[in-house]
Amino acid sequence: MTEPADRGPVLRRRIEADLDSLREKSQFRTLETAPGINLCSNDYLGLAYDPRLKQAVASALAESAAIGGTGSRLLSGNAPEWAALESAFAEYSGTEAALYFTSGYAANLGLLGSLLKPGDVVFSDALNHASLIDGMRISGATKVIYPHRDTEYLAHALRQHSGGTGARVIVSETVFSMEGDVAPLEDLLRLARDHGAEIVLDEAHATGTRGPRGRGIAAELGAERNVLAIVHTCGKALASAGGFVCGGKMLRNYLINHARTFIFGTAMPPYLARQIEAALGLARAADAERAHLRAISMALRKGLTAAGIPCGTSSTHIVPILLGSNEMALHMAAELQRLGFGVKAIRPPTVPAGTARIRVSLTSRILQEDIRRLIAGAEAAWQSGRRTFAGVAHV
Ligand SMILES: Cc1ncc(COP(=O)(O)O)c(C=O)c1O
Repeated sequence: MTEPADRGPVLRRRIEADLDSLREKSQFRTLETAPGINLCSNDYLGLAYDPRLKQAVASALAESAAIGGTGSRLLSGNAPEWAALESAFAEYSGTEAALYFTSGYAANLGLLGSLLKPGDVVFSDALNHASLIDGMRISGATKVIYPHRDTEYLAHALRQHSGGTGARVIVSETVFSMEGDVAPLEDLLRLARDHGAEIVLDEAHATGTRGPRGRGIAAELGAERNVLAIVHTCGKALASAGGFVCGGKMLRNYLINHARTFIFGTAMPPYLARQIEAALGLARAADAERAHLRAISMALRKGLTAAGIPCGTSSTHIVPILLGSNEMALHMAAELQRLGFGVKAIRPPTVPAGTARIRVSLTSRILQEDIRRLIAGAEAAWQSGRRTFAGVAHV
C-alpha cells in the first residue's frame, strides 16, 4: 500500500513528465509577452490607454469610501456602486436585469453551473470557450456538441433529444474568440422557437465592438429579450474586469441565490464599478473606433487571402492566420515578432489539434500602415515556412 508520505514524489514526477511532454509537442507555454505592436490584445476599442478612463478611475478612487471589496455581495460587499452599475448595464444590454460577476469566466461558470441540471440537455457549439465548457461540465447536464456553426446538425440533435422532460438549452458565443466568425443567431433563434429550447449567448468579443452602440450581436438583431441569458464581459473592449449575466429579473434572483461563483467570492472594490460605468459610456460613443476596426479587419483579411494565406471564416476584428502545425505557427510568430509585431502562436489544446495559428486580434489603435506591413511580413514568413517545413502538415 502506498503511504501518504510517498504521494509527494509521485505528484512531482507526474508534473515533470507532463511538462516534458508539452515541450516535446511544442506546446509548452510561458508568460513572456511579445513586445512591439500588440496584435494579441483584447483591448478592442483602445480604452485601456484612454486618459478619460484613467481620470474616471482616479476620481472614483478619490471619492470612494472604501477601496476594498470587504466581503461577498451577500454579506458586506454590496456597495451602492454595484447596483447602479447593474441597472446601467441592463439598459445597455437591452435586458430587464444584469448581475455582475468578478470575471467573465466566473459569470459563465456560475450561470451554467447553477442553471443546468442532470436530465437537461445542453447543445454546445464545438468551438465554445473553456468557461462555457466548464460551466456545462459541472452542471451534470447531458452535453451535445455540434460542429462549429452547423445548424443542420443542431436541428437533427434537437429532434433526437425531443423526448425528455428536462430543459434544452443552446449555448453559443456570438463572435468566436479563436475563429473571429459570428454565430448563426437567426437560425439559432428559429431552432429554439421550433423546438422549445432556450438560448444562452456569450458576447465577450462582441461587447463594445458589434451592434448598435457596441451592444452586441443579439442587439444587432433586436433579439436581446428572445434569449434566456446574454453574457457580456468587461475585460476586453471595456478595458476593465468582470462579466455580466444579462436577462430577466427572475434569472438575476436565481443567480444571486444559486450561482456559486457569485455567492462564494469577495466583491470587487467599488471603484471598479465606476470604472466599468465610465468605460460603458466611452464604448457607447465609440462609433468611429468601431468603423476603423471594421476597415482594418477587412484590409487584413483581403491582404492575407490575396497572398494565399488562409484566415478561415473570420468576419470580425479577430483574424486567425491558420497554419496547421505547431512548428509553422511558431515560425510565423518568430518572423512577425522580428518585424516588431507582438503576436503569439496559439496551439492545442487552446485550439483543436492540427489548427495551430496566429490569432490576430485588432484594436482601434492599429493603423492601416501597420496592416500593410503585417500582410507583407506574413506573406514572407508563409513562403519561408513552407520551404522549411515541407512535409509537415499545414492547413
Ligand atoms: C468567449 C469568452 N467568454 C468568456 C471569457 C472569460 O472572460 P474573462 O476573461 O473576463 O474571465 C473569455 C475570455 O477570456 C472569452 O473569450
